[in-house]
Amino acid sequence: MTAEPGTRVLKADPAAISAAAAALRQGGLVAFPTETVYGLGADACHGEAIARLYAAKGRPAFNPLIAHVADIDAARPLAVFDAEAEKLAAAFWPGPLTLVLPKRPDCPVAALALAGLDSIAIRVPSDKTARALLAAFGGPVVAPSANRSGHVSPTSAAHVLADLRGRIDLILDGGDCAVGVESTIVALLGAPTLLRPGGLPREEIECVLGHALAMPAVTDADDAPQKLEVIAPGMLASHYAPKARVRLDATTPRAGEALLAFGAAPKFDGITLNLSPRGDLIEAATNLFSHLRALDASGATSSAVMPVPHEGLGDAINDRLARAAAPKS
Ligand code: TXA
Ligand code: MG
Repeated sequence: MTAEPGTRVLKADPAAISAAAAALRQGGLVAFPTETVYGLGADACHGEAIARLYAAKGRPAFNPLIAHVADIDAARPLAVFDAEAEKLAAAFWPGPLTLVLPKRPDCPVAALALAGLDSIAIRVPSDKTARALLAAFGGPVVAPSANRSGHVSPTSAAHVLADLRGRIDLILDGGDCAVGVESTIVALLGAPTLLRPGGLPREEIECVLGHALAMPAVTDADDAPQKLEVIAPGMLASHYAPKARVRLDATTPRAGEALLAFGAAPKFDGITLNLSPRGDLIEAATNLFSHLRALDASGATSSAVMPVPHEGLGDAINDRLARAAAPKS
């Protein structure tokens, strides 16, 4: 298989796995096989790498990503495991099950990867290339399916290349995916809830839990059709909602507001945070959720947000800002 300059395709041997781990450490984007579908991996703790990952996928919105780890011990620093989480992890990891759990306060994963949420989706893949890469890298790797937004998930290196050539650093070719559909996603943030049917049958999960899974069923149109990400109100927000009121496209902040700037900021006495003083959208994406949280933490009851251009990652930034500004129910 040949790739255009910029995207290397390597057969997943030990040398390729070291090269892939090194690329991740440098903030690169590496597609790798899992037993479900190919994932597009980035260092979960590297905000800028994650901004580039969203840009490479062409996602119009920042959907939270799944953190892939080598085993449950590598997952413990990220999330709080209750008794049911322990049971499911013991029964099904490694394998095609993703658990959405409360994020630990000291979780090192970048806010952008989690779209600002207090929960985190974690999975331990069983594919041998994925496991070797996670072991060699030694930290959490976030990986959405390695397709352009709106396309179907890839189950071979050739599918990944067709969608992402020239947009990512490296593809590890480990052959075809054994399962071929995405992982089953279960949220354990209250009553265990099936967020996405997938490679692990629901019945097997219910058998281990000893009771049925709750089933929200609202689809979100901006990604794969099988995606079920918006769930029952009060159980899990599908997006980060700040406490402060948010006023968009503000060119002049008013007295009493905090200012969330982009590019050159106007002179202002109040609290000011800048998404990117040099007007860089990758940098702005990296700072978006942490700045929204910092504005809330400052106690400001309303924020003025300067206009962000509607191009590249600006579409996703504007999508999240619009959700943040939507009236609270
Ligand atoms: O099999 C898989 O899960 C593949 C392989 C690469 O691991 N990955 C995958 O990722 O399908 P992605 O990004 O295409 O789908 C992940 C889904 C999205 O619908 C996202 O909204 C949801 O997981 N998700 C992630 N974190 C979440 C959270 N904290 N709460 C609710 N949903 C979450
Ligand atoms: Mg996907």
